Amino acid sequence: MRPRSAVLLALLPCLPLSAAAQEKTGAAVYETVCSDCHGTGKDDAPAFGDRKRWGKLVREGLNDLVPAALRGIRKMPAMGGNPALTDLEVARAVVYMANAGGGNFAEPTATDSARWRKKADARK
Ligand code: HEC
Repeated sequence: MRPRSAVLLALLPCLPLSAAAQEKTGAAVYETVCSDCHGTGKDDAPAFGDRKRWGKLVREGLNDLVPAALRGIRKMPAMGGNPALTDLEVARAVVYMANAGGGNFAEPTATDSARWRKKADARK
């Protein structure tokens, strides 16, 4: 076996990890999906940067906000209407919007988003 193919084979087990790393950032998810409604406040969605609306939501906390975004609430569609997003991507977008509205939340982990998914499914 030539050295180069040996290196490629050695890298193969890393592939699933790099796929996870490619999950979109909160800003990217916001721009491509959430800004449709949250950019303008369509259907009374809390608008991006509106500290009055988001201040109230920030006080409710991520344990309420993220499950609501995952399962949908009134005119807010589940997963922002894009089921191709992962739970972690949706959680990151919630944190991105909440922090733009005055919050100071840390970047969510996969453990966080798994816990929020359980909460969302339990309330269905
Ligand atoms: C089709 C329009 C639409 C899209 C797209 C959308 N939202 Fe919303 N969102 C809403 C509306 C409307 C509300 C207000 C719901 C209410 O309280 O009645 C809302 C509320 C929320 C809330 C507050 C929930 C609560 O507990 O009150 C969060 C968090 C949220 N959206 C996150 C997101 C995220 C993250 C995305 C993108 C992945 C997204 N939204 C995309 C319409 C949208």
